[in-house]
Amino acid sequence: MKRAVFPGSFDPLTNGHLDIIQRSAPLFDEMIVAVLNNPEKRPMFSVEERCDMIREVLPSIDTDDCKMTVESFSGLTAQFAKNRDADAIVRGIRAVSDYEYELRMALMNRRLEPEIETVFLMADEEFSYVSSTLMKQVFELGGRVEGLIPELVEERMRAKQNK
Ligand code: PNS
Repeated sequence: MKRAVFPGSFDPLTNGHLDIIQRSAPLFDEMIVAVLNNPEKRPMFSVEERCDMIREVLPSIDTDDCKMTVESFSGLTAQFAKNRDADAIVRGIRAVSDYEYELRMALMNRRLEPEIETVFLMADEEFSYVSSTLMKQVFELGGRVEGLIPELVEERMRAKQNK
């Protein structure tokens, strides 16, 4: 029984995240999408809103026979993964520019929890430039983000904007 944790801010979920979830699902029996509770970063969506959106969107992708759950967490990813008895931490790599930060994080997480491996997956090149930050920026300035984030996420962003 192999369990993975896919940690992130997910503010908001993008199609790049979904691509990574879909690619990693066949590799594990269980996967916990772990949403970091980071109020100090003043996220667009609360941690509950982010978790709810992911739960609502997940059924739209093929997650094979992998049991998917969504949870929020605070503190260290390595500690959360250990508490959940996970075998692996999954991270997506888009471009070479991601590599240095991800390598540092993976090595630190390994130092903290040597039993837990970080597994890197390459997102589809279609999403190589997609990040939550870029999506928020483009959306807020009136640009089109269609096809890069789930429709439901776009609706929730619009609802936030109109508040
Ligand atoms: O989606 P993001 O913002 O790239 O995800 C980054 C995340 C949440 C994986 C990273 O910031 C993290 O693990 N934060 C929790 C605190 C922690 O464990 N820090 C040490 C990492 S070595």
